[in-house]
Amino acid sequence: MKFFIDTANLDQIREAYDLGILDGVTTNPSLMAKEGIRGHEAVMNHYINICNIVDGDVSAEVIATDFDGIVAEGEYLAKLHPQIVVKVPMIKDGIKAIKYFTQKGIKTNCTLVFSPGQAILAAKAGATYVSPFLGRLDDISTDSIDLIYKIVNIYRTYSFQTQVLAASIRHPMHIIACAEAGADVVTCPLDPILALLKHPLTDSGLEKFLADAKKFV
Ligand code: G3P
Repeated sequence: MKFFIDTANLDQIREAYDLGILDGVTTNPSLMAKEGIRGHEAVMNHYINICNIVDGDVSAEVIATDFDGIVAEGEYLAKLHPQIVVKVPMIKDGIKAIKYFTQKGIKTNCTLVFSPGQAILAAKAGATYVSPFLGRLDDISTDSIDLIYKIVNIYRTYSFQTQVLAASIRHPMHIIACAEAGADVVTCPLDPILALLKHPLTDSGLEKFLADAKKFV
């Protein structure tokens, strides 16, 4: 399973990359706004800065919602850096644009996916990644992990090459459940990744080992 970090914060991206377990980055307009990035040039430079920190795919989201606009924006983003993946919303013109990008060899991430039917359409259009949002489904009392099982099962049944990129991950149990369900990628903020490190028995065990080590040095 690949780990992507879901942030536009360069310090957090560096910290995750330095851990040695980072495979890529996802961003969205809300995450860019949170970092105070304003203006076209600043946003584009920020994507390039992110690509220069990590080795893997970096999702950059289009703002346009019509086919021509999505294509123009996506082609511009794809030319920015070879690591850029064009993130496209799950709408009618988005699906058409994903098909277009697929034929042009441009990688895509179909975002804002909340149902198996949407995931089927993304795969049929040839999306590189599909992004089902877990936390936002949980927020409305819907079983998000069940959605991951269903998408993984459908994709395996038909040998779709689209990778399941579980997004809107809020806590470490989401990550573990996604691993059990067979998601190809999880993308989440730094905290849930760091939370995987933690176990009280690790802390107390290490404390005891270090205390005992003092007895023979
Ligand atoms: O990758 C999508 C993610 O950024 C959304 O997360 O927590 O706003 O639902 P959240």
